[in-house]
Amino acid sequence: MNALLPFSIPLLFSSLVWGGYLEYDQDVLIPEDWTHVGRVDPSEELELTFALKQQNIQLLEETLRRVSDPDSPQYGKHLSLEEVASLVRPSELTQKVVRSWLQSHGVSDCLAVRTQDFLQCATTAEVAEKLLPGSRFHRYARDGQSIVRSSAPYSVHDEVHRHLDFVGGLHRLPPKGKDVRKKQTKSGAWVHLGVTPTVLRARYNLTAADVGSAQNNSQAVAQFLEQYFHPTDLAEFMYIFGRSFEHLSQVDRVVGTQGGGKAGLEASLDLEYIMSTGAHIPTWVFTNPGRHESQEPFLQWMVLLSNMSALPWVHTISYGDDEDSLSAAYMTRINTEFMKAGVRGISLLFASGDSGAGCRYLSKGQNTFRPSFPASSPYVTTVGGTSFKNPFKVTYEVTDYISGGGFSNIFSMPSYQASAVQGYLKSVAAKLPPASYFNASGRAYPDLAALSDNYWVVNNRIPIPWVSGTSASTPVFGGILSLINDRRFSKGLPALGFFNPRLYKLKQQGLFDVTEGCHLGCLDEKVQGNGFCATPSWDPVTGWGTPNYPDLLAALLVD
Ligand SMILES: *[C@@H]1O[C@H](CO)[C@@H](O)[C@H](O)[C@H]1NC(C)=O
Ligand SMILES: *[C@@H]1O[C@H](CO)[C@@H](O)[C@H](O)[C@H]1NC(C)=O
Ligand SMILES: *[C@@H]1O[C@H](CO)[C@@H](O)[C@H](O)[C@H]1NC(C)=O
Ligand SMILES: *[C@@H]1O[C@H](CO)[C@@H](O)[C@H](O)[C@H]1NC(C)=O
Repeated sequence: MNALLPFSIPLLFSSLVWGGYLEYDQDVLIPEDWTHVGRVDPSEELELTFALKQQNIQLLEETLRRVSDPDSPQYGKHLSLEEVASLVRPSELTQKVVRSWLQSHGVSDCLAVRTQDFLQCATTAEVAEKLLPGSRFHRYARDGQSIVRSSAPYSVHDEVHRHLDFVGGLHRLPPKGKDVRKKQTKSGAWVHLGVTPTVLRARYNLTAADVGSAQNNSQAVAQFLEQYFHPTDLAEFMYIFGRSFEHLSQVDRVVGTQGGGKAGLEASLDLEYIMSTGAHIPTWVFTNPGRHESQEPFLQWMVLLSNMSALPWVHTISYGDDEDSLSAAYMTRINTEFMKAGVRGISLLFASGDSGAGCRYLSKGQNTFRPSFPASSPYVTTVGGTSFKNPFKVTYEVTDYISGGGFSNIFSMPSYQASAVQGYLKSVAAKLPPASYFNASGRAYPDLAALSDNYWVVNNRIPIPWVSGTSASTPVFGGILSLINDRRFSKGLPALGFFNPRLYKLKQQGLFDVTEGCHLGCLDEKVQGNGFCATPSWDPVTGWGTPNYPDLLAALLVD
């Protein structure tokens, strides 16, 4: 059947020189906090994810623009998963070439997704190393977690090179469980006003009546750490902190494997707070789907989205990597996956990160800021963080110095934000960090913000104060968008979907501007620890600002 394809003869493969690298710029170093356990036995099973080249990506992008731009006649005319599949599905040739390449190596245990653009295959380490010349699989361990990764870059044969975007399961490491809990500061910090659902609902003007009621609305948090939420923590949290508003105290659906052991602070935080602003809205948890030592948890989640026709409308995700550690091929393909979600009317909200502008310390003091991905993706909504001006009262908000923000070095500035960002660059021209620290033509983030400081979280049955980070602000904003979707559904309007094109046209309407404070940057002589500073209107620290729910709803309750 594949007689015309030269590599249907396995021998030919092994005799040919390597094709090329798909991810020549991917960081393959294993950080020192992982202990090398040893080479993987040749017969050990691995799971690899093949990202097949898709079709019509420009048309997909154009469709995303049309369904997300409120001035387009196609606004809100979202696609079903089937429609997305018929748009992007890889060509027959691509599917055939990749499958026969795999089969010629004896790799036949593969699962496809509905869009046919990912194949997940089980194989042995021995076969994988022949299939992907250059790869060498080792086992590594950290904090009781064990993973399998390649210590060297992989290549693929020339014949398949143009049919694949990348192969997953070789390099990118699971995120490190960051310590979301801030150390208690010394003087009098214990009398600080902690952030609770009541405080958030007061600040963002949510009344007791502002809870979900529409049919078919839902929201989700996605987790990629080796940590889980406990249903009893959620119930106890709502019992203590949820008295003033109607809410749900149980998760609707868990997708993936909920492990045992102690509850994670991050997992508890995300869930407890999306269910406090997006109160009374059915909530799903995506958690380490289909775990295997050689899988990349974030990629697994993306693959899953392409295989589920019914999904929640809003997803919040607290995950990110340094942009410079990821290959352009990988990030470009993940962007396409974000577009696939966007055209379906799904809103993806990512935390902007907790290191301000970040810093990449280069030799001879040639430092630069360090953007983070997916925060820097033009196809997601990125959420920064704020604190109360007066830490003892519900007051106006100022920058939380950890709030991630800046400019992508990989993705150019999308047109929806060009005028806002140009306005910022002009207005602060004299006070900007040196031009060598950031790329002013890149996608600028965050898009908006919410409080990110001093939250109360119930974790392992204990209420814990001082929990901070943009992992807190992201579910808070996510819940508010969900609530707006809820009201839109009740009026027969479509979901907000990919929010940015509409957000940047609001021109601050429904958002509290954050104008004070700077976030962290490089600790060096030139910038002295600072990144960017908040200003009136949009800025790369807190975006457009934080939600004033009734005003935001009013602005978004028209078609
Ligand atoms: C996608 O879902 C179908 C069933 O709907 C299943 O047969 C298939 O194995 C799934 N693919 C993956 C990669 O899990
Ligand atoms: C919302 O909150 C702000 C500040 O907390 C307040 O000034 C305003 O009057 C409130 N109400 C509306 C409808 O904006
Ligand atoms: C809810 O979803 C189901 C299945 O997708 C659909 O048949 C039904 O019409 C929806 N209901 C509303 C109120 O949108
Ligand atoms: C700046 O960003 C643009 C795209 O936004 C990119 O083409 C260019 O290479 C970047 N420059 C540097 C120095 O990273």
